[in-house]
Amino acid sequence: MGQPTHARNTGWWRSAVIYQVYVRSFADGDGDGTGDLAGVRARLPYLAELGVDALWFNPWYLSPMKDGGYDVADYRAIDPAFGTLAEAEKLIAEARELGILTIVDIVPNHVSDQHPWFRAALAGGPERELFHFRRGRGELPPNAWRSQFGGPAWTRVEDGDWYLHLFAPEQPDLNWAHPAVRQEHEDILRFWWERGVAGVRVDSAALLVKDPLLPDFTEGRDPHPYVDRDELHDVYRSWRAVADEYGGIFVGEVWLPDTERFARYLRPDELHTAFNFAFMACPWDARRLRASIDGTLAAHAPVGAPATWVLCNHDVTRTVTRYGRTDTGFDFAAKAFGTPTDLALGTRRARAAALLSLALPGAVYVYQGEELGLPEADVPRDRIEDPMHFRSGGMDPGRDGCRVPLPWTSEAPHAGFGSLEEPWLPQPAGWSAYAVDRQRDDPDSMLALYRAAIAARPVFGDGPLTWLPSPDGVLAFARAEGVICVVNLAATPTELPARHELLLSSGPLDDRGRLPQDTAAWLRA
Ligand code: GLC
Repeated sequence: MGQPTHARNTGWWRSAVIYQVYVRSFADGDGDGTGDLAGVRARLPYLAELGVDALWFNPWYLSPMKDGGYDVADYRAIDPAFGTLAEAEKLIAEARELGILTIVDIVPNHVSDQHPWFRAALAGGPERELFHFRRGRGELPPNAWRSQFGGPAWTRVEDGDWYLHLFAPEQPDLNWAHPAVRQEHEDILRFWWERGVAGVRVDSAALLVKDPLLPDFTEGRDPHPYVDRDELHDVYRSWRAVADEYGGIFVGEVWLPDTERFARYLRPDELHTAFNFAFMACPWDARRLRASIDGTLAAHAPVGAPATWVLCNHDVTRTVTRYGRTDTGFDFAAKAFGTPTDLALGTRRARAAALLSLALPGAVYVYQGEELGLPEADVPRDRIEDPMHFRSGGMDPGRDGCRVPLPWTSEAPHAGFGSLEEPWLPQPAGWSAYAVDRQRDDPDSMLALYRAAIAARPVFGDGPLTWLPSPDGVLAFARAEGVICVVNLAATPTELPARHELLLSSGPLDDRGRLPQDTAAWLRA
């Protein structure tokens, strides 16, 4: 066994700023229109300048890319479109030299249909037991479960059996009741920890375990046949024991409306953290944001886990677009083509939201391009790749609009992404206006705001949050050492507290020194 790489786990993850890298769209090192590890390595100085503590990489493993890499054919190999394992090792080491830790994304719920286990299962081998193969009910699938991407959750194979896939048919679900599945994943965790990663994101963390009887889902009946089953906690307790050997940490993708059930994943012997989707989906409304913040802190306190703060990721509408719409919350079911959007308004709010989330106690996730204020792109229908779009019969725009390759250099072809070939998803007109080289030296840019805020963020310290009296529509709270964050969501400008120095604001104050609508400020006594 290799050297434990994190024998001293410093608790960095309790207050880190973690930058999400969707490798395929981050930076293109070889110019072929697909992002790659060479691109990331070349841009490490950019990430260091931004000041982030860690990078979370979406799956970079060998994959037929039927779901952007969440269909993994080999968890121990890098997809050749991205690079090699040796390059990944170099990247992890180079990042660490710059003080940046690495988080990899493990997908335990399913594999690619090209994974050797599934190919052997299709050939009729005993590997079928590693999946959920069943006879149907006559010509009907074994039950009526629906895929998360729409359509039935079952596909029939040649000999008449059906297999379960909670996502696309190319993503067969693993059978977590089988000891070989558990063993394999613990080995995969070790594999990456021995390569120096500091953390693991757990994809679809609440879906792994299924009721062995595979009963139909009846609304309101507990427990659910495949969401948030109690047996999962046993899996994460054994994962935690492995993590502790290396000082590694977990962040779980846990979508659960019930905050008490959510917090169970964060008990001291389970996952360290989980994404705060309740906050991410919260509309731009002072009362609701405050309730979301209070609810988050109250849910985490009993288990002693730090909160996380997320405004967007590779699955949801980009922040400046969401906040520029009438409905400023996020809901998969409500996504539609052609929703009217006021980008200037959305950008103003996104700037304020950046200062809000970076002032809260816990870890903050920043999704690539968020620091550039990128809007959701309109991807032409004939270029969409996301299975969510196709499995909704073309109704759902899918998630490609937030996955369009980043603009780096305004004057270069494809804004500096893909010198030789077109980017894998087309960049919309005007994309180069958001390019890094345009924003780098502009003190009013989104990039400058993120940089300044991440650099100043330690002033907030580790302490708790104390709400301060404030007018309707205004959020005001103090953190450690008299540092205050004020966010004005009300139509009228609000006075800032007297005898305080302004550290940073998301937009200009008015001519009487008041904080205008949709603006946030950090102050110090
Ligand atoms: C997670 C990922 C998403 C993926 C799904 C299936 O929700 O974030 O991108 O499609 O899992 O793996």
